[in-house]
Amino acid sequence: MTKRRVRTGVPGLDEMLHGGFLPGSVVLIRGAPGTGKTSLGLQFLIHGATEEHEPGLLISFEEFPRSLYRDAASLGWDLESLEREQRLHLMFTSPEVFLAGLETPESIIDRLIREHDIRRVVLDSITHFNRLAHDPHELRQIYTRVANGLRREGITSLLLGEEARSEAVRADKGGLAFVVETIILLRYVEVESAIRRAIVVLKMRGSDHDKAIRQYEIHKGGLVIGDVFEGRQGLLRGISYRAT
Ligand SMILES: Nc1ncnc2c1ncn2[C@@H]1O[C@H](COP(=O)(O)OP(=O)(O)OP(=O)(O)O)[C@@H](O)[C@H]1O
Ligand SMILES: [Mg+2]
Repeated sequence: MTKRRVRTGVPGLDEMLHGGFLPGSVVLIRGAPGTGKTSLGLQFLIHGATEEHEPGLLISFEEFPRSLYRDAASLGWDLESLEREQRLHLMFTSPEVFLAGLETPESIIDRLIREHDIRRVVLDSITHFNRLAHDPHELRQIYTRVANGLRREGITSLLLGEEARSEAVRADKGGLAFVVETIILLRYVEVESAIRRAIVVLKMRGSDHDKAIRQYEIHKGGLVIGDVFEGRQGLLRGISYRAT
């Protein structure tokens, strides 16, 4: 029997994921500034809210409500009306408050999830927990608490993770890659003196998935996945060269 999948609504991505995420999984979306992490997260929540009857929650440590509404509007999304209809919930908080709330029954986050039957959560961003930890071991414990706190029945969560533009295939201090079920990388790549965007599904526990590195673009409406980068090597290192 094939398990039900949680569709992202991102054209081309569900095919890469062989139908979508596994329900209840914790997914890491990792990328440099401006690669489209927040856009992808919003697209996932909006698709759930409007097409799948799955209310969503965005937890942001990052943006002020006004700038998030504005960025979403530039992609064609009216977050305020989805909020009014209680199909989308936005929570602007700090990593400290969020972490304390995750493990406290009857906290604001716990109540939100139960009362509004939240099925999709986006955390923007997981990188903000780094400053709460003194060493990699403590960071790993925090990541595990966050992931386990979100791993409730039926909730699929995206953790957005920042990486510096210069970082290569990667230092992952707190072992976040081991804590999550699925990892998607968003990358800038240089191809013939132009910057293009690349997406790859790096791992997906419990499922097969597309191994190709594909191009994607961001337009009004969100991300759209395109073709594979044919005949190029070194894409994950950021600067590609023609395979000979
Ligand atoms: N209406 C639009 N049309 C085309 N591209 C857009 C539009 N709105 C945003 N973008 C693109 O999306 C990018 C920003 O995406 P987003 O904010 O989701 O990235 P991010 O990975 O969350 O960045 P950060 O790490 O800074 O939070 C912009 O740099 C721009 O290239
Ligand atoms: Mg962002």
